[in-house]
Amino acid sequence: MTEVLNEKKSVAIHAANLVENGMIVGLGTGSTANYFIEELARKKREQGLKITTVASSVVSTIKAQKAGLELMAIEHVTNLDLYVDGADEVTPDLTLLKGRGFDLVKEKLLAKACQKMIVMVDQSKLVDRIGQNFPIPVEVMPFAWQLVQKSLQDVGGHGELRSNSSGDGLAITSHGSLVLDMTFDDQYDVANLNALLNAIPGVVEHGIFEQLASLVLIGSHDQVEQRWVKPDQ
Ligand code: A5P
Repeated sequence: MTEVLNEKKSVAIHAANLVENGMIVGLGTGSTANYFIEELARKKREQGLKITTVASSVVSTIKAQKAGLELMAIEHVTNLDLYVDGADEVTPDLTLLKGRGFDLVKEKLLAKACQKMIVMVDQSKLVDRIGQNFPIPVEVMPFAWQLVQKSLQDVGGHGELRSNSSGDGLAITSHGSLVLDMTFDDQYDVANLNALLNAIPGVVEHGIFEQLASLVLIGSHDQVEQRWVKPDQ
């Protein structure tokens, strides 16, 4: 566990070294993103790094505020230089699974709007296929959840509404949605599944991030491996 924490921190420090003066930088959500926020704040304090940040969640907003980073509201953003975030799974073609947290909507908006998305993971996040280790989160409008669940079941999906952490209620995202955590039979490749989920009415967002990552940084012991998306992808 300590090793994983150190890998998350070292990969976050590596990512922060790619940030340049004057950039607008999207801040992801999660334990690795927290290390990245802390390192950006240290660079601001100690090296005078001048950047503006945009947060992907309430949690990263609070973290960045406390750390003294300058924040811009997502409403005011039309483009950003970098978006730096963790992920739950990364496939060989750099498709991501995200959304174990509760902030898929802003995360995907920032991933789409940025010039370059940098993803920070440790080796435990590398998988052969999306859905290998985690269900695929499908964020749904609350009144639509049963209709969406039925649509997903009709195409071979299985899953239920996510519970809150104490198990006595439902998880609510920061967008106010419910989450269906879904698994799918193997007949779909990820591009088809991505397109299928995008097309279901009542789906607000889902956790497949296809063709959005530019660079994945993989922490392994005391090294950081870089994997760039191939130009033809
Ligand atoms: C947020 O919604 C998630 O996608 C996180 O980015 C992901 O769970 C990675 O989290 P850790 O950095 O805590 O592993």
